[in-house]
Amino acid sequence: MKPKVVVTRKLPTEIYDQLSKRCQVYMWEEEEKPIPRSELEAQIKDAAALFCMITETVDAELLDQAQNLKVIANMAVGYNNIDISTCEARGIRVTNTPGVLTDTTADLAFALLMATARRIPEGMDTIRRDEWNNWSPFFLTGQDISHATLGIIGMGRIGSALAKRAKGFEMEVVYNNRSRNYEAERISGAVFASFDELLEKSDYVCLLTPYTKETHHLIGKDELQKMKKTAILINVSRGGTVDEEALYAALKSNDIYAAGLDVFEGEPIASTHPLLTLSNVVATPHIGSASVNTRMEMARMTARHILQVLNGEDPDHLVV
Ligand code: GLV
Repeated sequence: MKPKVVVTRKLPTEIYDQLSKRCQVYMWEEEEKPIPRSELEAQIKDAAALFCMITETVDAELLDQAQNLKVIANMAVGYNNIDISTCEARGIRVTNTPGVLTDTTADLAFALLMATARRIPEGMDTIRRDEWNNWSPFFLTGQDISHATLGIIGMGRIGSALAKRAKGFEMEVVYNNRSRNYEAERISGAVFASFDELLEKSDYVCLLTPYTKETHHLIGKDELQKMKKTAILINVSRGGTVDEEALYAALKSNDIYAAGLDVFEGEPIASTHPLLTLSNVVATPHIGSASVNTRMEMARMTARHILQVLNGEDPDHLVV
């Protein structure tokens, strides 16, 4: 009998076909709505593989239901939705999708930086509301990007790709990371800085760090106060790296200039969330890697990881 794989979202036929040659595939039939927890718990009981998204919480309770599970393939680079230590203890392999989404996510980070600095959504709203009355000297003036200083917190693949883009804009790049990234320093002239030095010096602070216990609320009241009054915070990591209440207070009282956010503490963010009432916030709905090609590559890679583990091979990208 073919091993069973549970796929938690409706995906293109190509992915279904890729898996069904080797597996019996259960696929949740909705694209926009995540699989209900009760359905996932029922389906995972006899599954050998789980193909999941960041919307699924894979905790010890769920794993208790899954006595045959060999592999969890997350269609994302981040895997804070999965209890990694329990998987490791139970010999369940976990894979993610690094590399394939690096450029697309760095593009979004830079797009958010530019849209926030140059107040592009505000400009569009102004036209839509018929409030563009005249050209005026200081109308919708924002912040310069070229020659400004970009501080990158988390200099991994995406951070390095962002630094390359910044170099094209003749920006100074400083970064903070657990360890020095000599390659990024060589390629884009990025300079290592202490965390506080980065906050004090940067015109743009961009968060690209994984979300862990250590990075929970990495940016809070004290950190926001260390930033320049003209600084812009960009978050494309996970919402939990920023204390949203403290961010709201800092933006409201102009302790920092603006924020560009792709991720939130609770997703999807409610349209009534206080942050969205502020004109100095630009928000996108967690679309860092959302280009057609990249999402297809991520799905193909995730399916490949499952097949590799089920065939007794080492998957290309193993977390544990
Ligand atoms: C998306 O947030 C990812 O981790 O790939």
